[in-house]
Amino acid sequence: MKFFIHPFNLRFYYSLIVAFLLCSIHVAAQVIIPVETKNTALILQSNVANDLGIIYFGKKLSQPSEYAAISQMYKQSEDYTGVLNSAYTSSGSRNLVEPAITVSHADGNNSLDLKYVRHSVKAMDNNVSLLTVVLKDPVYALEVNLFYKAYFNEDVIEQWSTIKNNEKGNVVLKKFASANLHFKGESFWLNQYHGDWAKEMKPEEARLTHGIKTLDSKLGTRTNLFQPSVFMVSIDKPATEDEGTVLFGSLEWSGNFRTDLELDNQDNLRIISGINNYASDYTLKPRQEFTTPAFIYTLSTAGKGLASRNLHNWARTYKLLDGKGDRLTLLNNWESTYFDFNESKLFELIKDTKKLGVDLFLLDDGWFANKYPRNGDVAGLGDWEENKQKLPNGIASLVKEANNNNVKFGIWIEPEMVNPKSELYEKHPDWIVKQPKRDEYYFRNQLELDLSNPDVQDFVFKVVDDLFTKNPDLAYIKWDCNAVIYNAYSATIKNQSHFYIDYVKGLYNVLKRIRTKYPAVPMMLCSGGGGRVDYAALQYFTEYWPSDNTDPLERIFMQWEYSYFYPAIASSNHVTDWGKQPIKFRTDVAMMGKLGFDIVVSKLNETDLKFCQDAIKNYNSLKTVIFQGDQYRLSNPRESALASMAYVSADKSSGVIFNYLVNNRYGENSKMPVRLKGLDASRKYRITEINVYPGSKSSIDMNKEYTGDFLMKIGFNPDVNSSRTSVILKVDAI
Ligand code: DGJ
Repeated sequence: MKFFIHPFNLRFYYSLIVAFLLCSIHVAAQVIIPVETKNTALILQSNVANDLGIIYFGKKLSQPSEYAAISQMYKQSEDYTGVLNSAYTSSGSRNLVEPAITVSHADGNNSLDLKYVRHSVKAMDNNVSLLTVVLKDPVYALEVNLFYKAYFNEDVIEQWSTIKNNEKGNVVLKKFASANLHFKGESFWLNQYHGDWAKEMKPEEARLTHGIKTLDSKLGTRTNLFQPSVFMVSIDKPATEDEGTVLFGSLEWSGNFRTDLELDNQDNLRIISGINNYASDYTLKPRQEFTTPAFIYTLSTAGKGLASRNLHNWARTYKLLDGKGDRLTLLNNWESTYFDFNESKLFELIKDTKKLGVDLFLLDDGWFANKYPRNGDVAGLGDWEENKQKLPNGIASLVKEANNNNVKFGIWIEPEMVNPKSELYEKHPDWIVKQPKRDEYYFRNQLELDLSNPDVQDFVFKVVDDLFTKNPDLAYIKWDCNAVIYNAYSATIKNQSHFYIDYVKGLYNVLKRIRTKYPAVPMMLCSGGGGRVDYAALQYFTEYWPSDNTDPLERIFMQWEYSYFYPAIASSNHVTDWGKQPIKFRTDVAMMGKLGFDIVVSKLNETDLKFCQDAIKNYNSLKTVIFQGDQYRLSNPRESALASMAYVSADKSSGVIFNYLVNNRYGENSKMPVRLKGLDASRKYRITEINVYPGSKSSIDMNKEYTGDFLMKIGFNPDVNSSRTSVILKVDAI
């Protein structure tokens, strides 16, 4: 968005003048505040009563003066409150619907009526601007600031709020949303996700009916286990890949979240998203301020594909750690050894890392704890010293061996957790999340450490810091978080209803400290799979682990859904022995993001090994386009037997298309040509098949040339069938 920040843009000056006038003379007037991005406009308006509402969110109009005329074009039923379209719905006064904010004032009164006071726009640079709108209650000294940070070229908005207690006594926040949106449309279609362990990101789409649909989590940590906060809402009709108006949204918060989608009595859609207020009344002392996390959204009027590319561009540039950088290919030992290894076995795996041709060896769970050795998932979490039996010479000797083999070394940790069978549990019962008067209840035999406690934050920071201090060449961390929070309780915080929120803030404190000291080291965000993938966490991590389910057929579907919200560079895809597909199929699927392996390299037959080695070389030459290119979904595996996904460089000179047969019923194949997207119609391209299994021949005629026009209008047939279940095509402009 440019809040009219361009020096030649008169509207910018207009809004400044209006803001100035309102600040200085406090006159009630109708103020229109546009939040514009390249293609969209979110229009706020304060009416004569100084209620701030949303009068429009959609395609940008070419005449901004016409925004004021939008409302009169609607002849909907009675509002009754005058605030149904509120930009931040307060409760306890006229409001009759789901609020964005509910408070209990110092005198115990529960009413709130927020009025527009002023706004200002700050240009952060020539792409990003920040609108701040100040709202105040005329009766109580409570101030809310709404922030809209708009990324013009990406069509992305991050929205959050601050709530300031200027009263003389404590104010209790009962609900404190980040954002409150309002849409008009014929119908609204929600695409949401649900899941479980190894079943992440299952989509469900349905028409929203009147009343409230809530997407939420109360799991504390591993918060996305059953439901992530990402969702899509299509307006008027379900959007397709390239058609329709669709909003993508999610909360930048790694704890309990809540998004209410309310179809109101006027048939308009209200969306309210923020931290889940479940068991989380938050008390603000006088002069204290609460800042909500950001709700991030993008509105596309050209289907889901564009919305996803908007988010990818935004994430790589502004959010994901090192989003424009490179990533390390790796060999992980989790599935090849589980907890059963020793130094010499790991030395062999380090040699295999080199032999395979990947960049790094990643040592997973099981390397630590002595009194209660980590030989299974029942003991040891919390005791982060190397297990002397397995690793008599410590991590240092593994790092050294990796250096000797010219590969890097990375390590798994789960520093927020503790097993009851651990020395840490014995030493620090007060650091553990559990109810003092109730039985402990475990998730994967473990409990959380209480990150709301600064001493615990120091401990967790030290786990990471010690590893790096002792092993300066350590090149990678996999940070896991396997348990949800049962029996939420902190032995140290005074106000238990702050616990869920302070836990997440504590986690971010630790991650900030780690990133201050170690800004660049790659870290994988893992939570027993994809239990904690969100954009707040991803500012500290370079990549995420989508799921423990690495069956490539399942991964085609799962990675497809994740890809709507997160760029491929962030998706750790490992080749494992899940699934029965040939090594080519497994490797091809893993190449669609950040490639890794978790197999016993020494058990690969010669040809499989040769295939992998060549595939890694291909991947290294292609990874820039996979990481930084524009992603196009060409054939949806949920709609046909063929899955086809392409990545095209920004200059349209090269690309890669991944094609898979996802249905092995008799005769299924790529019957139709696959229409490419994102190419230059006037240029000519050559198509080459890569990752051809040694000894087999490609059926693609690689000498032919095609115009971008032909490839986008007619398409290209990857010739996928039961004997060619996976086909990778490289596209190069001539
Ligand atoms: C769960 C993770 O998702 C796995 O990849 C692995 O690291 C195990 N934890 C280790 O306990």
